[in-house]
Amino acid sequence: MNIDWKELGFHYTETDTIVRCSFSGEWKNGELIGEWGEPYITTDKYISLHVSATCLQYGQEAFEGLKVFRGADGKVRVFRWQENAKRMQRSALALKMAAPTEEIFGKAVRMAVKSNLAYLPPYETGATLYLRPLLIGTTPRLGVGPGRDFEFIIIPSPIGPYYKGGFHTTTFIVNRTVDRAAPLGTGQYKVGGNYAASFRATEAAHLQGYDCLFTDSKTHRYIDECSAANFIGIKESKEESRRSKAESQEPLIEYLTPRSTAILPSITNDSLITLARELGWRVSRRRIRIDELDNIDEAAACGTACVISPIDRVIDPDKGKVYNFGSEPGERLTCLYHMLQDIQYGRAEDKHGWCEIIDC
Ligand SMILES: Cc1ncc(COP(=O)(O)O)c(C=O)c1O
Repeated sequence: MNIDWKELGFHYTETDTIVRCSFSGEWKNGELIGEWGEPYITTDKYISLHVSATCLQYGQEAFEGLKVFRGADGKVRVFRWQENAKRMQRSALALKMAAPTEEIFGKAVRMAVKSNLAYLPPYETGATLYLRPLLIGTTPRLGVGPGRDFEFIIIPSPIGPYYKGGFHTTTFIVNRTVDRAAPLGTGQYKVGGNYAASFRATEAAHLQGYDCLFTDSKTHRYIDECSAANFIGIKESKEESRRSKAESQEPLIEYLTPRSTAILPSITNDSLITLARELGWRVSRRRIRIDELDNIDEAAACGTACVISPIDRVIDPDKGKVYNFGSEPGERLTCLYHMLQDIQYGRAEDKHGWCEIIDC
């Protein structure tokens, strides 16, 4: 095996093994009763699936994404996998699937990491080992309805540094032509259908050289999500009237992120919110109108893959408007980016217990 870690992109690279675990049950009075087997390691990357499996017929599928880091001290850290386990449980509930318990999820994560250590990129390459937990319905069904058998799989893959040659910015274009998810639909769950539904919009944006900024499906006036990441904005103000003279020199920093029933609750966003609060910034999770971008100083997309991806411009073609945030990543977002990466790479104290160090 000869991997050029620095040249890897966000593409699948096959590793030695995957981890699998099966559930078999019965629906009784609206409740799914059954049991998970033991997770096991296999080198076979193919699964034998009935052509009528509910994942194929009705999209009964959920997934997750998390990263494993080789730290500055050489230790192996998995970032907040418990949150991924909980989110998968919520997605499973939404699609009438059985979900792996936190215990099974954690066990499978450790097995996936330990059996693929050769694919964990060295420290300072910027590359990481990405884990893709997947949950699919495997019961053959023709009639529309949920299955009773499920397969939980963890697929590891080394992925390259998100930023090759340094932290850089991207441009987003406001989308009002395709709704990714309905307000009371599945947008807040990590299920495959949401992504397939977003392709028309994301691919159209990519063809124009941009990323896609989704607006809320009901009014198309508010920011929902940035492609497959949450939106965050930083607003600075001097509230001199309410502050003492000495304090008034200090800007009041506000971390803004959308509140919406149709967006995925990002684990990265949740972590950044905790760090922003530690810095004494005010955190506002609320509906954010597109035209409010005029009053925002720094903007970014955030998620596991990029951590923070600063935005230089947001183009609103329907309103003929361009919101500019500068071609260089802003100071506040850069600070948060480094704070989180320092924890993930073991360079800063992990006060919140976010990383599990795997004994390898
Ligand atoms: C639609 C969507 N929103 C937001 C995120 C960011 O979530 P996280 O920070 O948990 O990776 C992701 C990625 O998982 C996503 O697919």
